[in-house]
Amino acid sequence: CERQDGRPFRQRLLVVANRLPVSAVRRGEDSWSLEISAGGLVTALLGVKEFEARWIGWAGVNVPDEIGQKALTKALAEKRCIPVFLDEEIVHQYYNGYCNNILWPLFHYLGLPQEDRLATTRSFQSQFAAYKKANQMFADVVNMHYEEGDVVWCHDYHLMYLPECLKKHNTNMKVGWFLHTPFPSSEIHRTLPSRSELLRSVLAADLVGFHTYDYARHFVSACTRILGFEGTPEGVEDQGRLTRVAAFPIGIDSERFIRALELPQVQEHIKDLKERFSGRKVMLGVDRLDMIKGIPQKILAFEKFLEENPYWRDKVVLLQIAVPTRTDVPEYQKLTSQVHEIVGRINGRFGSLTAVPIHHLDRSLDFHALCALYAVTDVALVTSLRDGMNLVSYEFVACQDAKKGVLILSEFAGAAQSLGAGAILVNPWNITEVAASISQALNMSAEEREKRHQHNFHHVTSHTAQEWAETFVSELNDTVVEAKLRTSK
Ligand code: ADP
Ligand code: G6P
Repeated sequence: CERQDGRPFRQRLLVVANRLPVSAVRRGEDSWSLEISAGGLVTALLGVKEFEARWIGWAGVNVPDEIGQKALTKALAEKRCIPVFLDEEIVHQYYNGYCNNILWPLFHYLGLPQEDRLATTRSFQSQFAAYKKANQMFADVVNMHYEEGDVVWCHDYHLMYLPECLKKHNTNMKVGWFLHTPFPSSEIHRTLPSRSELLRSVLAADLVGFHTYDYARHFVSACTRILGFEGTPEGVEDQGRLTRVAAFPIGIDSERFIRALELPQVQEHIKDLKERFSGRKVMLGVDRLDMIKGIPQKILAFEKFLEENPYWRDKVVLLQIAVPTRTDVPEYQKLTSQVHEIVGRINGRFGSLTAVPIHHLDRSLDFHALCALYAVTDVALVTSLRDGMNLVSYEFVACQDAKKGVLILSEFAGAAQSLGAGAILVNPWNITEVAASISQALNMSAEEREKRHQHNFHHVTSHTAQEWAETFVSELNDTVVEAKLRTSK
């Protein structure tokens, strides 16, 4: 396709996600600086280049004044981002409350903490009302910027009510929705008081996507059991109206990582790290400091390994880089102190005056430092209790073509389905098994490491973020747009 000016036509894609790829930090009344946001959704979508994409989302900051809003809107426009301004109360009820204290733990099979259970039950209605209100605010911004022919791609559990808001306003809009977390068994989803409303709204989209076939299957069976709709090989059908449901496993922009390793500044980092940890094997964890990542379990497994393998005590180091996340949610605050306590105890137990077995950093690393760290690692530990996909495991593999290190990977991460044959798969709840897998990884022959790495490297470099987005959007383009609003049953 060509435009009148002869340039190739690139379809306009409106990407709507709660979090913009950049988060804003206020420097003055009308000045802002923008920093890349952490998280798999952002990483994957930054790898998508073939579309004329606009991002619509929250910049992660409260901006009550008009001067600040105008200046931020302008700064974001340069990055093709369009802000949705959420006030403090909405953020508290919608983002901290309904999204991250209810949906997130539920979708990852983690029950609510005992003491929060009653309080959450009581505040449920007001949080759900805020969730719907916030989703409508996202819809209003989409409607303001939508042009005929655009494709609207909604992302994640924050925006399950968005497809319905959009279709109510314009039934001709092409709307896709993709979930970046697991979709749990229908028995789990069934416990959610707003279970039906959320499912109906998602079904208003033309295409619904998940990372794995299992998540798609759970969603279809929730629609069958809870709404009484029909599950078909194509998706979910109700009175002749079909919503297509399918699996679209995400990937990363692997070339970006591979190319970065050649840069002088990354080589410099690699040299420093090799010197600093010379004579020791490097084990690495890179996670948002989130309870789904199984960080305490991972560290306890490492302690067990040290306990059982005195030989390795001064020959191995675990670097755990944990970027703080959702710090206003009490559960996350508790997790931070829990992790600090465990790390302190183990370092006290196995450390010496000159070295400690665990280096724990509560912060984000810049891209070059992260690539260098991946490249010098001997064993990566990805022990999520549940994880939609987990892109850290992909990034590690992309940076390991020289070293051919070992990936220890949770069987409960979506990535286990794609990298399982090359990784050592573990049940992260079983610290004896994880400790044994550390031993297996450190003692693995070069030949076996090479074989396992080749398998994973091939997958990571041939299933990219770009390809993921193209497949989803092309399938969305192929769907027939129709009014799929299902208001009652
Ligand atoms: P999630 O989306 O749950 O955070 P993923 O593993 O899919 O999990 O994606 C995490 C993304 O965030 C990766 O791209 C990773 O590089 C980045 N990230 C996570 N922790 C850090 C950190 N401490 N420093 C820099 N980047 C990080
Ligand atoms: C996960 C979610 C994303 C989210 C990211 C970071 O990857 O699927 O939607 O953006 O975590 O979390 P945050 O709450 O900081 O946006």
